[in-house]
Amino acid sequence: MIKILWYLFFNLSYYYKGDFMYKKQELDYSLNDLEPYISYETLDIHYNVLYERYLNNLNNLLKKNNFNFNIPKEEIYNIIKRFPVDDREAILFNLGGVINHELYFSNMTPLGKEDIRFNNVIESKYITFQNFIEKFSVKAKEIRGSGYTFLVIDKDGELGLINLANQDSPYRMGLFPIMNIDIWEHSYFLDYKANKDGYISNYFKILDYSKIYKRYEEFIKEIC
Ligand SMILES: [Fe+2]
Repeated sequence: MIKILWYLFFNLSYYYKGDFMYKKQELDYSLNDLEPYISYETLDIHYNVLYERYLNNLNNLLKKNNFNFNIPKEEIYNIIKRFPVDDREAILFNLGGVINHELYFSNMTPLGKEDIRFNNVIESKYITFQNFIEKFSVKAKEIRGSGYTFLVIDKDGELGLINLANQDSPYRMGLFPIMNIDIWEHSYFLDYKANKDGYISNYFKILDYSKIYKRYEEFIKEIC
């Protein structure tokens, strides 16, 4: 009887553990909803192929190391030293690939959405919203190769703009990202070819500033 119970326990726990993994973030718009600024084809490849590949790679690396998926993904940066040295670089790269893309996809919305509360926050730092957009755009154009521009908050609630290469993340530096733009060529090349500036200027037309403000508000509440 005890043998049977042990057998059931091990088999059930195996299948139970198999269900643990980080899930693909749903889009709250359709793949063609961001046209003409981002095409169906670009978004389909970006979301269904590239983002999903980062997610699968991350889940497989974590499963291999018997990780139990019991913390938010962002907290993995705090415990990275628990993983074997040989796996850390791949975990960090794919983790960034997941987190950065989830922020990017979730901040977009067809036709964009303004929020006066976010305008007020931005104006307290950048004087005018237009000035913020110009500074963000200049920063994004400075990226050489692949990477992202982020609007981040530090632990004192100060806003700032940073560029990070490849799939590096502000979380690794103790900064909280609330908005980003993907400057990897796969984000825009099919639609804009070499016109990266056109992609950057159109990006602001499809942002949901209410969501970005909500991220800001949640983080500020956390540190107060
Ligand atoms: Fe991307």
